[in-house]
Amino acid sequence: MNKCRSVARRMQHIQPFYVMDLLAQARDLEAQGRSIIHMEIGEPDFVTPAPIIEAGQNALRAGYTHYTPALGLPALRQKIADAYYIRYGVSVDPLRVLMTPGASGALQLVMSVLINPGDAVLMADPGYPCNRHFVRLVEGEPISVPVGSETAYQLNADLVAAAWTPQTRAVLVASPSNPTGTLLSVQALYDIHQVVQEKGGVLIVDEIYQGLVYDGECCSALSIADDIFVINSFSKYYGMTGWRLGWVVAPPEYVEPMDRLAQNIFLAAVTLSQHAALEAFSAEVAVILEERRQEYMRRRNYLLPALQSLGFDIPVVPGGAFYLYARSTQLTQDSFQFAQLLLDKAGVAVTPGRDFGRHRPEQHIRFAYTTSLKNLAEGVERIRCFIGD
Ligand SMILES: Cc1ncc(COP(=O)(O)O)c(C=O)c1O
Repeated sequence: MNKCRSVARRMQHIQPFYVMDLLAQARDLEAQGRSIIHMEIGEPDFVTPAPIIEAGQNALRAGYTHYTPALGLPALRQKIADAYYIRYGVSVDPLRVLMTPGASGALQLVMSVLINPGDAVLMADPGYPCNRHFVRLVEGEPISVPVGSETAYQLNADLVAAAWTPQTRAVLVASPSNPTGTLLSVQALYDIHQVVQEKGGVLIVDEIYQGLVYDGECCSALSIADDIFVINSFSKYYGMTGWRLGWVVAPPEYVEPMDRLAQNIFLAAVTLSQHAALEAFSAEVAVILEERRQEYMRRRNYLLPALQSLGFDIPVVPGGAFYLYARSTQLTQDSFQFAQLLLDKAGVAVTPGRDFGRHRPEQHIRFAYTTSLKNLAEGVERIRCFIGD
């Protein structure tokens, strides 16, 4: 009791990831010799491409162990800006590219410079759970807008307009999205941006799964306007989760305050990771990343119909990321309990909807295809036996 009194009030709103409990249980079971198929993990199973690791090793050997400038290595910021031009034909001033400790650091920085206490930020529910906590940390109000298959589990211009209040300051979307893997088209982003602009707010687009796209156009919100905050990271497409390196492309007038804040709260992103990431744009790495993208696509193409044949409902084919968000009501009315039993009885770990918001979480399960096709097939067979098909 006394201990709790010393914890700040804002901590009341910070919830744990339920899947972490499941993951810990899965690891315990593995330690006891049980075989577990992991479909709960939201990070690539591939290790970082070898040329990037080598570049990191070389950087250490060369003694690059000091701080970089708060906004990152100029050469890396330039490479990222160049990549936007090469891939999407968008010219970005490298001075607007700010390196951060993961997309997480970018989200924290963006919320800190934008949100005053009481300001509301609109976001899709289901969505990436940390987003509401980033808003809470700066004493803002995360407003979860329920979304379903009719809008491909994404916000659209009408939903944004309807949810807008005088307190609304910003809208945060992700394309491709976690947990649903669905995309926003350039047109949809454009329409949302129009509404946000008319209302005098700010649009933030999380493009962390950019590159992991299997159908439809791969685009960047930067092609729409300069006043959008675009967040990205080396974690997912580049397979560098543990290196803790991301970036944000900020509207020009926000660069100076973000620099000031980054100097204070992070000092700089990890130096070793920035030197390694310089290699992430090489032709050699591009080949590796394309092979991996195709492997993810094969996995998606296998897992989607396999889960449907078991009775999971996946009404929208997810065009990207490495997730399938399935409605599980034909099999259970309580996805949390189902996930727990599935782990205990069948040795398959999945993430129940509860981690992603309050909109029908008990009806949904997220499957991550961050494991081999062989493991996915074994997982599907185990689920089939578990549900007695
Ligand atoms: C949508 C989304 N945004 C941001 C993050 C944070 O990523 P990182 O801090 O590793 O770059 C994640 C991680 O799962 C995510 O799914």
